[in-house]
Amino acid sequence: MIVSDGLEGIVAAETVLSDVDGEAGRLTVRGYPVETLAASWTYEEVMRLLWEGFFEALPDDLQPALGMARAEVFAEVAALDATLRALPPIEAMRALTARLIDGDSLAVALRLTAAPGVFTAAVIRAGAGEAPLAPDPTLSHAADILRMTRGRAASAAEVAALQAYLVTVADHGLNASTFAARVVASTRAGLTSAVLAGISALKGPLHGGAPGPVIEMLDAIGKPENARAWLEGALDRGDRLMGFGHRVYRVRDPRADALKSAIKALAAQSNVLPGRLAFAEAVETAALEVLRERKPNRSLQTNVELYTALLLEGLAFPADAFTCVFAMGRVCGWIAHAREQVEGGRLIRPASVYVGPTPRQAA
Ligand code: CMC
Repeated sequence: MIVSDGLEGIVAAETVLSDVDGEAGRLTVRGYPVETLAASWTYEEVMRLLWEGFFEALPDDLQPALGMARAEVFAEVAALDATLRALPPIEAMRALTARLIDGDSLAVALRLTAAPGVFTAAVIRAGAGEAPLAPDPTLSHAADILRMTRGRAASAAEVAALQAYLVTVADHGLNASTFAARVVASTRAGLTSAVLAGISALKGPLHGGAPGPVIEMLDAIGKPENARAWLEGALDRGDRLMGFGHRVYRVRDPRADALKSAIKALAAQSNVLPGRLAFAEAVETAALEVLRERKPNRSLQTNVELYTALLLEGLAFPADAFTCVFAMGRVCGWIAHAREQVEGGRLIRPASVYVGPTPRQAA
């Protein structure tokens, strides 16, 4: 039996949802290039695109239904006690999400999609000693998340930037968190269980936990002329450079440039962001150079997380909550995959090769 470490190269599902072409650097979501979606689609439109065919009586416009779902889940924020407030934001958000009833209905799916935005806003405000703000169901998901987090209406440019981010990360093939969600869905455990598995897998630094450490890296480097020495030192210590490398992409992650366009639009209204972007670009150039020299046999390129970090910092999200914002976008993809798994797939149950002692040796 041949073991594929990390299941690399193993095809575990057929999907109509998204296609990641790692050689060409292309991400296609139900036939649309990610760049097209990021440039002009709302989050609710992409959510509908992903959910089409997986729920009966799906409304044409999901914005009012998602707004109502935000209002419904807000009741759970009352459970944000001192114990939960002491947790990292992703764990506090996950704990509140675990309070939602399980099931497979559209109502459950809408509440789960609303949850990361509503709960993260409350967790961030609690961290700053501020009371949570109730959702405004009339707003778009992106606009309401920014308003609930900061306590004031966001500008059109800020809403567009968050929208572009949420759309860009909504789905991405069989990444670790989506696979985790599909495994749980394959047992027929329900969408809440599948989403909780997704959040749990996303939280790790090799997956959705990378953008917070990207900010730590940029802050530790401080200025462009320090970049090369700092990056070489990190590799000498055996560390990985956060925001670089990918299991599937052998060329630049197309999501990096979709997000860079969104950052440039936001930077036009900011005194700080243009300088920060130029600095990040200098660090990126140095990192790619060092990675080429140190890992000549592996094509390690920029992934989505470098510019995610910059965009979310530009929108004033605290770095320890970046993974929660990733979950706000990815949740509708997890749900679509969970539904697809239940409708067309079998129980996911791979095999393992036993390499432990034989019963005779152990005795
Ligand atoms: N910095 C330094 N070396 C790296 C990096 C990196 N960022 N990524 C891979 N390598 C090296 C790794 O050390 C290994 O070298 P060697 O063969 O000499 O031991 C080689 O490249 C292959 O590594 P691997 O672990 O087999 O690669 P993988 O396909 O399992 O890893 C990854 C993919 C994303 C986990 C990895 O590139 C990584 O740890 N990157 C940093 C964390 C990061 O940015 N994560 C966000 C990923 S994008 C968001 C998402 O879609 O999840």
